[in-house]
Amino acid sequence: MVSVSTDATDTLVLEGIVVTCNPAGDANIAPMGPIVDRHVTRLTLRPYSTSQTLANLRDTGRGVFHIVDNVELLAQAAVGQLDPKPRLTLLDASHCQRLSDCCRWFAFSVDSLDESGPRAILSCSVIERGEIRPFLGFNRAKHAVVEAAILATRIGILAPEEIVAELVRLAIPVEKTAGAEERRAFDFLRQYIDRQLAVS
Ligand SMILES: Cc1cc2nc3c(=O)[nH]c(=O)nc-3n(C[C@H](O)[C@H](O)[C@H](O)COP(=O)(O)O)c2cc1C
Repeated sequence: MVSVSTDATDTLVLEGIVVTCNPAGDANIAPMGPIVDRHVTRLTLRPYSTSQTLANLRDTGRGVFHIVDNVELLAQAAVGQLDPKPRLTLLDASHCQRLSDCCRWFAFSVDSLDESGPRAILSCSVIERGEIRPFLGFNRAKHAVVEAAILATRIGILAPEEIVAELVRLAIPVEKTAGAEERRAFDFLRQYIDRQLAVS
């Protein structure tokens, strides 16, 4: 029988969405890829120094990591263009908010923060968790959208020709396997990247 590894040292990067709040309670929604153990009891977040997520975590020490299968939300959140804004649910215990619609959520508190490198390193403990609905399953177009969303956040860091070549490659699984949501998300990112590259 195949089972989930119980080795606490076996970690991986899990791509999801982090919701944080500023001290006034305004929510910020951003895709992030923390390092997690297989049971997601601890997260190591590595936000760039310019990110709002880092500013909020520095101020409040609390956030919620979500596992989602909605790649349109992930694509829009990556470039800060949420339309419509997703519904949020208040979590009493952590005074934070979570995405109302997600597969799994993990409220966390920051145990330590190291800002000595180009990316901050935040070591966090999961303090509360929940499961809302099942994960739909693997789909190559969804994974292509995740990769395209990462490219969209690396404009100005990666060479434009590298971004364009990667998008051409990612369009193939989208053409073969996407549903309407994945197609909209990929087209949205492609148009965003085209516009940004045209002005850069
Ligand atoms: C799948 C995915 C994973 C990402 N992981 C990280 C990460 O670990 N650290 C980071 O700083 N940015 C990461 N990004 C980029 C941020 O989401 C992006 O820079 C975003 O604009 C930051 O938003 P914020 O300033 O509201 O925090 C990721 C983007 C995607 C699409």
